[in-house]
Amino acid sequence: MPRTLTPLLSEADISARLPELAAEIVRGLPDAARTDGVVIVGPLKGCVVYMADLSRALWRLDLEHTLDFLRLASYGEGTESTGVVRLEGDLIHSVEGRHVLLVDDICDTGRTLQFATAHLLARGASGITTSVLMDKPSRRAVPLVVDHVAFTIPNAFVVGYGCDLAERYRGIPFIGVLGPETADGG
Ligand code: IMP
Ligand code: MG
Repeated sequence: MPRTLTPLLSEADISARLPELAAEIVRGLPDAARTDGVVIVGPLKGCVVYMADLSRALWRLDLEHTLDFLRLASYGEGTESTGVVRLEGDLIHSVEGRHVLLVDDICDTGRTLQFATAHLLARGASGITTSVLMDKPSRRAVPLVVDHVAFTIPNAFVVGYGCDLAERYRGIPFIGVLGPETADGG
């Protein structure tokens, strides 16, 4: 069944904001991280589109960085996640002594970034800076503050630019709010 897709953030909105945000991230890094570079880490798969664009924006600002990934699963009982996050796949390279820029598409309850932060510190990261494309602060279930947010959005289910619904819609180049299924898509 077709669904309506109401634009929330356009490609132009995102591409105008990312260079600003990248500059804000670089300014906020500890001096050593600015000199030595950072490891950008994201939980697969929602992070990938944001990570790719942020990586290029940071490259233009001469911030050296490598990329790595975590694979996390959250298990819920019913429709709302109850927030048990589990590690399903670990980093490929060590982050021991490195400053990590932890990125994701959305911060919702905050549990994913909270879990990933604890995991990266346990793996020896010297410091963590967090950044998301979208933050839904009204949904927070744990006391987590994201350091650098591109867009604060209301509590709506969004897709595109890496965000999926059951693995669909990740390739949409903008962010839209999905409507319910309708017979004619209208
Ligand atoms: P948290 O652990 O509740 O903060 O959830 C963060 C994860 O939930 C993100 O990595 C997203 O993959 C997913 N998520 C949260 N809200 C949405 C949404 O509106 N659309 C698609 N995925 C979402
Ligand atoms: Mg995700």
